[in-house]
Amino acid sequence: MLKNFWYAVEFSAAVRDQPRQVRLMGQDYVLYRDRQGQVIALIDRCIHRGAALSGGWVEGDCIRCPYHGWRYASDGKCVEVPADQTGVPIPKRAKVEPFSVEERYGFIWLFVGDLPSEQRPPIPPFPEFDDPAWRSVSGEYTWNAHYTRVVESGLDSSHAPFVHSVFFHHRNDAEVPPYEVQIDDWTATAKTISKPPKRAGLLKLIVKRDRPFSSATLTVHLPNINRIHLDFNYRGFQYIYFASNIPIDEHTTLTKWIGLRNFLTQPWADWNSRKNTNDTYYEDKAVIESQVPRVVPLTGEILIASDSLQLAYRKLLRKYVEQGWAIGDYGIPTGLIETNGKQAAVVTAG
Ligand code: FES
Ligand code: FE
Repeated sequence: MLKNFWYAVEFSAAVRDQPRQVRLMGQDYVLYRDRQGQVIALIDRCIHRGAALSGGWVEGDCIRCPYHGWRYASDGKCVEVPADQTGVPIPKRAKVEPFSVEERYGFIWLFVGDLPSEQRPPIPPFPEFDDPAWRSVSGEYTWNAHYTRVVESGLDSSHAPFVHSVFFHHRNDAEVPPYEVQIDDWTATAKTISKPPKRAGLLKLIVKRDRPFSSATLTVHLPNINRIHLDFNYRGFQYIYFASNIPIDEHTTLTKWIGLRNFLTQPWADWNSRKNTNDTYYEDKAVIESQVPRVVPLTGEILIASDSLQLAYRKLLRKYVEQGWAIGDYGIPTGLIETNGKQAAVVTAG
């Protein structure tokens, strides 16, 4: 993963009055709410004997370890050691690391890194989430794959006729018209035009005529957010998939997604949104989990015109890897990267 970014690690609704464990690149964090409902994030490891604090419980603004009952305040400082006699001072080292958290767009965002707040990359925008014209569903699934491969699949406009031919157009219509990529420091996005999804399932009920094309605006917000905005080219009907692809470790990605639609906004249609997203996941999973190298290589592989958006993503990843923000494997041993931004000496990934 890359440090110094905000990671959407959990749904807001999942963090209530019990401690909640989340994992990022093998590191466990505990989330809980204080008395004001503010989410607190600490390293999930008691400084005393290493028990997971998430196995304990919340008391007011504090969390209590389940093993010997040490109590920690929301800034991570231990404020009570039950086994000590009254008046015995608490050791200064008795604290666990606290982390910055924000709650936005239905997610808890955790900042992992060492940048001061004014220099941090922003939390990606998702303004439709708070707009009542959109109906939201959410879900999650796990991949036995590195998150960069998962993110790239959400930027890949040429796989749909092959991997998703049940819902999308047929593989005989696989040509990808040229598209433009917009890129800034944290985001790459492109609007792609293609044959529309088939009028199947509920879509058949609401889309009354065949259309020549529809569009998909595909976006990555570095390092791990996919946004897929489908416009069905029919009465303004649109669907937005916003997914946090959480790097659990080098081999596992947990995707927590929110899907918004501005048509059939009644609750009874939720199952169809979920089903379409889950079906798509199973179709992608088979291919993505087979990819080697596991991590997208930052040079090498053959990228063609239809892969321009993936190329932009790789350029952005590379920029931050070269800046020293990589935690874990990005296919380039960090010692071999020239810090002046020139071509790296080694291009293979294991
Ligand atoms: Fe947490 Fe002992 S391990 S109090
Ligand atoms: Fe796909």
